[in-house]
Amino acid sequence: MTQLPGLLDTEAIRKDFPILDRQVHDGRKLVYLDNAATSQKPRQVLDALSEYYERYNANVHRGVHVLAEEATALYEGARDKVAEFINAPSRDEVIFTKNASESLNLVANMLGWADEPYRVDRETEIVITEMEHHSNIVPWQLLAQRTGAKLKWFGLTDDGRLDLSNIDEVITEKTKIVSFVLVSNILGTVNPVEAIVRRAQEVGALVCIDASQAAPHMPLDVQALQADFVAFTGHKMCGPTGIGVLWGRQELLEDLPPFLGGGEMIETVSMHSSTYAPAPHKFEAGTPPIAQAVGLGAAIDYLNSLGMDKILAHEQAITEYAVRRLTEVPDLRIIGPATAEERGAAISFTLGDIHPHDVGQVLDEQGIAVRVGHHCARPVCLRYGIPATTRASFYLYSTPAEIDALVEGLEHVRNFFG
Ligand code: ALA
Repeated sequence: MTQLPGLLDTEAIRKDFPILDRQVHDGRKLVYLDNAATSQKPRQVLDALSEYYERYNANVHRGVHVLAEEATALYEGARDKVAEFINAPSRDEVIFTKNASESLNLVANMLGWADEPYRVDRETEIVITEMEHHSNIVPWQLLAQRTGAKLKWFGLTDDGRLDLSNIDEVITEKTKIVSFVLVSNILGTVNPVEAIVRRAQEVGALVCIDASQAAPHMPLDVQALQADFVAFTGHKMCGPTGIGVLWGRQELLEDLPPFLGGGEMIETVSMHSSTYAPAPHKFEAGTPPIAQAVGLGAAIDYLNSLGMDKILAHEQAITEYAVRRLTEVPDLRIIGPATAEERGAAISFTLGDIHPHDVGQVLDEQGIAVRVGHHCARPVCLRYGIPATTRASFYLYSTPAEIDALVEGLEHVRNFFG
């Protein structure tokens, strides 16, 4: 068995994830390499969810009865865990949403309805990048269409990194917001946050970071990032679906208007007008995803028990091994950085002219789960002149043996298609 320095004890860890024991397609061992789409959930998270529904289920912030108080304590306790996990200066800066897309839409809508100095209008510019997930493109397109603002973006280099050579022309005095991904879901690239933030701060633009593919995999410190907003989702970091996070700087959350109106986000309501509760509640209209937040809290406990530094080291070792092994496969072209440096644990590739959907299907028949398609980042495929990629993505339970299985599986694909 291949041993690499820095690996976690995956034999023990995998026992926490019941689904990893599954067999598929008549007794084939499941090799789950679709972690960038969603991670699997450990028993600790599954137990927290069922315990919540079995013992504590009630609506939060509303009732005076014991269950309502306990449910509220669990929900707000999850907020504390998130705040600590991302080193937020205040728990009130943590807004629960349903996913990262909703978090990013929330930022776009806050700015869309804001007064000066935040207002986005036809005199102003919005900056994104060509490697964004659709969830960090479409909300800004909508905002630009609605306000007349100009949408600009950083292009990509041939090796899958951001082309910042024209940073001073892209981010200008007119820029109101720069929104970009920390780790690309399709290319795996880890972006140079500091250079972008420095330029944005020079011109007084706000910075929003999509950390969906970072929060599960590496220590995340919103203060060190120096961003104004950071968005991520729970289901990629061992948590349940239906829970996302938007962290925002307190002064901004105080100043910016809410997006959704409804119960729990108000202070007072009359038939003529309303006043709003302080953040984060101002941005959490309606019954929130309570069980999901509790599940996310349990996921954070789980990640902390392993240590984010150790998770990062594990994934770096696995990714380095995967890059090395995949580079040996004839006709395989990595789309994105072809080195293990400054890249995350998602590797996209093409295999000769075999369509990625065929690659994915033949791998699936062997029990190997990967994602194929444009990965909700279609402009990246357009940039590199390809219709789609096959993507293998790893997590804290991934093993070198699974990389070997992928490489053998790809040999099988090549033989199958001659
Ligand atoms: N954003 C997820 C992915 O990259 C769904 O697969």
